[in-house]
Amino acid sequence: MTLVARTIGLLGLLMACLAPAAALSEQAMAERLRACTACHGEDAIEIEEGYVPRIQGKPAGYLYNQLRNYQAMRRRNDTMNHMVRHLSDVYLWEIAEHFAGRTPPYPEPATPPANPAVAERGRMLVREGDPGADVPACQACHGERLAGALPATPGLIGLPRHYIMGQLGAWREGERRAAAPDCMAAIVERLSPSDIAAVAAWLASRPLPVDTDPAPAAAVDPPMECGSIEEPAR
Ligand code: HEC
Ligand code: HEC
Repeated sequence: MTLVARTIGLLGLLMACLAPAAALSEQAMAERLRACTACHGEDAIEIEEGYVPRIQGKPAGYLYNQLRNYQAMRRRNDTMNHMVRHLSDVYLWEIAEHFAGRTPPYPEPATPPANPAVAERGRMLVREGDPGADVPACQACHGERLAGALPATPGLIGLPRHYIMGQLGAWREGERRAAAPDCMAAIVERLSPSDIAAVAAWLASRPLPVDTDPAPAAAVDPPMECGSIEEPAR
């Protein structure tokens, strides 16, 4: 049985432990979120051939947006839609903050694309964009280190190639939407399927920067506006 299949079997049992409680210590919160780390844990992420994304260390604002997107079916994935169905906004924010504050080690990057033209196309899109096709450089928003930027732009390092391809494809097909204005949906429309494959393969093979923390908001100057969901009032 695959890890994912085994974990889905455990979900029913573990969902009972997900109910929120007031003022949990970090340790207690980690215990409570074991249902998540069964898939999103240190040993579960496989960059070369895997699919499960790293969530640790991403900006809390980004993670919160995703949890809300899964809940509202703006983002479709049966497991994730199910995991968050009955959780309150405040608890989703606490979960987002918890994972944003974790920094387990990253796995080794994937093997770089064998075809040098593919590697160069991936590098160019990320570093320079493609002005002819009106594609901005990915790093203009995701940061020069590609570790993301506060408050709500995710890092693109340490993600499996299949996952990156899957997400860009999902935006193309309307299976993934972000809060309006959905800048990624607009960008992905301008990429060809071979661009998507090239950028995913190049990103998955990046060596890790020394500093993997998201950049401060002031370090990036996004060339387009991107929407985000407000943090819940408490
Ligand atoms: C059975 C495995 C599994 C479990 C359990 C699971 N996840 Fe996920 N999670 C996934 C997969 C696979 C994806 C990517 C789905 C997609 O394509 O949208 C994902 C995506 C996510 C994302 C979006 C990541 C990103 O970078 O956009 C977040 C956030 C997340 N999960 C949080 C959680 C939390 C919190 C829990 C526990 C309440 C949890 N997950 C439980 C498998 C799992
Ligand atoms: C104008 C700013 C901007 C630019 C330019 C940009 N992105 Fe994004 N990207 C974002 C934001 C904001 C999000 C989070 C969207 C959401 O809330 O779902 C995102 C999310 C993503 C994700 C999802 C990550 C995950 O963990 O699920 C991928 C993959 C991605 N971008 C790839 C790219 C690539 C490849 C390029 C260049 C071709 C690019 N982005 C250019 C702002 C940008």
